[in-house]
Amino acid sequence: MKADRRILVLGGDGQVAWELRRTLATLGEVIAVGRRTEPALDLMQPDSILPLVEQVRPDWIVNAAAYTAVDKAEQEQESAAAVNAIAPGLLAEAAARVGAQLVHYSTDYVFDGTADRPYKEDDVPNPQGVYGRTKLDGEEAIAKAGCDWLILRTAWVYGTRGGNFMRTMRRLAREREELRVVADQRGAPTWSRHIAEATAQVLAQLGDDRAAWHRGCGIYHLTSAGEATWHDFASAIVEHQRRQETVACQRVTAITTADYPTPARRPAWSVLDNDKLARTFGVRLPDWRVALAQVQDDLDNYANP
Ligand SMILES: NC(=O)c1ccc[n+]([C@@H]2O[C@H](COP(=O)([O-])OP(=O)(O)OC[C@H]3O[C@@H](n4cnc5c(N)ncnc54)[C@H](OP(=O)(O)O)[C@@H]3O)[C@@H](O)[C@H]2O)c1
Repeated sequence: MKADRRILVLGGDGQVAWELRRTLATLGEVIAVGRRTEPALDLMQPDSILPLVEQVRPDWIVNAAAYTAVDKAEQEQESAAAVNAIAPGLLAEAAARVGAQLVHYSTDYVFDGTADRPYKEDDVPNPQGVYGRTKLDGEEAIAKAGCDWLILRTAWVYGTRGGNFMRTMRRLAREREELRVVADQRGAPTWSRHIAEATAQVLAQLGDDRAAWHRGCGIYHLTSAGEATWHDFASAIVEHQRRQETVACQRVTAITTADYPTPARRPAWSVLDNDKLARTFGVRLPDWRVALAQVQDDLDNYANP
């Protein structure tokens, strides 16, 4: 390993960035940047991207910053586009300028959810909302920019920190007798720590081998094994929680998307096929239920969420 490797991690205290700051520390010096850190980077300010990259001179840039408010994005299209579409392209151009490689994250929401088998990387995207469309634009901007890059498409991210579905369900289970949860959208809940660990494994394999980066450059799907509806996910969360504490929740009721309308349309079925990542790098995440049990064990034993 290069003795003084520098890894620029973007995304502040976001779910994935927070984990990356820990898991990537064995691979080099991590320079973590957020909107409120020093050095700081606001991706809404396009002119500040190249100077920051030139100042840090990283070997790798790992971009886990994103505009992730799926429903709000329908109203704030310009902000979502600035962070998810324009900034990733500028980051990739900056990476090319300083000779760095870029790792970036994207989403299952680039697909429309009409497939009848798990989506492969080269299936035709057709985003249903602003968030998915801006993330797809970001993917395309990176591919054009001229650096070597990896785009890891993940889904339904949750973990012990940040705003996420698992934490919301645990809170609501303490407060309400009934949780009503959508049962006609299917995907793969994926633990932010597993995303970071898989990223570290891939990076460790590619190392400083430019030819390997060039060969490996591309899009990879990275989600937990298995699939679930939001209702399955919520049921598993509450079932586990109930074994540890007394909760108000008596039942988790299955409802339809039509019963719970949201500003953004979401794909009804967005399970991703993870074989390419397994074939190329030998990395495969465990089943979502295994991960969920581990995350909740952490919360039960060591934290006060
Ligand atoms: N969350 C999911 O369910 C999900 C699903 C599929 C794919 N993904 C992708 O996975 C990656 C990581 O997502 P995550 O779940 O870790 O997201 P997250 O927890 O929402 O974190 C996103 C981070 O991006 C930062 N950010 C937003 N706007 C910014 C700006 N203008 N300048 C600088 N930083 C900015 C946020 O900073 P502030 O704290 O300052 O706002 C936040 O720390 C993203 O690419 C996302 O699109 C996520």
